[in-house]
Amino acid sequence: MRIDVVTIFPEYLAPLDLSLIGKARAGGLLDVGVHDLRAWTHDVHRTVDDTPYGGGPGMVMRPEPWGEALDALVPGPASSGPRSEATRAERAGSRGQSERSEPAGRVPEGGVRLVVPTPAGEVFTQAMAHELAAESWLIFACGRYEGIDQRVLDHAATRMPVTEVSLGDYVLFGGEVAVLVMCEAIVRLLPGVLGNADSLAEESHTQGVLEAPVYTKPPEWRGHPVPEILRSGDHGRIARWRRDQALLRTAQRRPDLLATLDPGTLDKRDVAL
Ligand code: ADE
Repeated sequence: MRIDVVTIFPEYLAPLDLSLIGKARAGGLLDVGVHDLRAWTHDVHRTVDDTPYGGGPGMVMRPEPWGEALDALVPGPASSGPRSEATRAERAGSRGQSERSEPAGRVPEGGVRLVVPTPAGEVFTQAMAHELAAESWLIFACGRYEGIDQRVLDHAATRMPVTEVSLGDYVLFGGEVAVLVMCEAIVRLLPGVLGNADSLAEESHTQGVLEAPVYTKPPEWRGHPVPEILRSGDHGRIARWRRDQALLRTAQRRPDLLATLDPGTLDKRDVAL
């Protein structure tokens, strides 16, 4: 998979070098490019925003740098040239950071999808993480201020699928942290990234319920014992206990999830609970 991120704060994306995402990159499972939007500005102040039409507080991101950035990243009729060429701003030695772990010029098959984090988007879920993990190329456009001029998204939608995504019902300063969250959720689903694929099948949200609590050694810690059943070696009873705990937790903490649970995934014991 390839992921490109366009932002006015490339340093915010530094964690994409770390941990399992960094390892996936080093192992050739993932190619990441982080690009400074200001590389596609042309004025001395490298302006990316302006006052909103219709009035109101804050600033809106102007369409021109975004249009040029997307033209440069995505080959097509409006592109300034083949992918292997540096963008005009990059050739001019812009102060923008643009890093890529793989030779530029290789365009993954299967097209590209633009993902725009915004509190006005549809809510990001595990199902959406799976959907995005199936793409070969994602471009994340990080808005700041009051957001990106809507025409950027409308124009991009004539060339590629565009999805506006919210992490939840709260407002961040901008899209960068949301991109980090989404990248973690997506990259860990890529084949070969997690050592043990079983951990994906069992975890919270994969089966529509929250995960049961987990324990490790020692068997007793500060007066709190590990539930006896987990030490019994009876795998059938352990599986049942975990399922009961998962359902109880979900009922207590996320009754909304229980309401949408597929009845086909429930057995008799689940229903009795
Ligand atoms: N940008 C600002 N707030 C956001 C949110 N809640 N989700 C995604 N992107 C955002």
